[in-house]
Amino acid sequence: MSTESESATWSGIAGWYDELLQAGSGPHQLAAETTVRLSPAVHGSDVLDVACGQGIASRALARAGARSVTGADLAPEMIEAARRHEANDPLGIVYLVEDAATLRTLPDAAFDLVTCQLGLMDIPDLTAALTAVHRVLRPGGSFVFVLAHPCFLAPGAQTVRTAEGRPGRLITDYLGERFWRSPKPQGVRRAGNHHRTLATYLNALPACGFTLELIEEPPAGALLARQQPVYSAIPIFFAARARR
Ligand SMILES: C[S@@+](CC[C@H](N)C(=O)[O-])C[C@H]1O[C@@H](n2cnc3c(N)ncnc32)[C@H](O)[C@@H]1O
Repeated sequence: MSTESESATWSGIAGWYDELLQAGSGPHQLAAETTVRLSPAVHGSDVLDVACGQGIASRALARAGARSVTGADLAPEMIEAARRHEANDPLGIVYLVEDAATLRTLPDAAFDLVTCQLGLMDIPDLTAALTAVHRVLRPGGSFVFVLAHPCFLAPGAQTVRTAEGRPGRLITDYLGERFWRSPKPQGVRRAGNHHRTLATYLNALPACGFTLELIEEPPAGALLARQQPVYSAIPIFFAARARR
């Protein structure tokens, strides 16, 4: 018998996800701060936010002064949630239902900055997505992404405590790249995601025409440290900026 966590999809959990973020999610707050901090010269830029979900990063980039922000996501329910936020608090963001693997309706060399916050792990074909991002970026444009840290959020990873009571992460299966789902009924990753090693992500960048510029493993902010203390000493995210 299949449980909800065995069949969850991003469309199916879009309403739940939107409520989670609106209630105040430490990981998502840190992710959005990281996306904006790593983004060069947002002011006056044309920005595409890939796998934008309900638009948390798109809104942060618009508030940071982008000239235009386009948010794209494959799940229509996520785009509906993003459009509701736009209707309630207009920032001029345009949201599209769009597959990151092709970005089919978006023209070549149309954006100064492309961001992908907590999305690359959810996209099955990494090479196709990076190739599409490269195509829509202007020459010299930047790609900023934030990942659930593949070293510490690998399949089956558990938060444990040392004998002295210090929290840590127990990793038992890092090298096995595959699609997996968190078995937690309220886990964000119950919708499933593609585990890849850090080497796979980093090697994919030059293979798709990017030059890596900057890497960050951001420490927890106050909210995340309170919600999940283990991420004060271990990075929850791996973030990077690459240039076309
Ligand atoms: C963890 S959520 C992140 C959403 C948002 N960026 C955030 O930080 O809250 C992952 C998102 O990736 C989207 N996604 C998965 N596969 C996709 C694809 N092939 N193209 C575009 N979006 C995709 C899902 O619909 C979901 O909204």
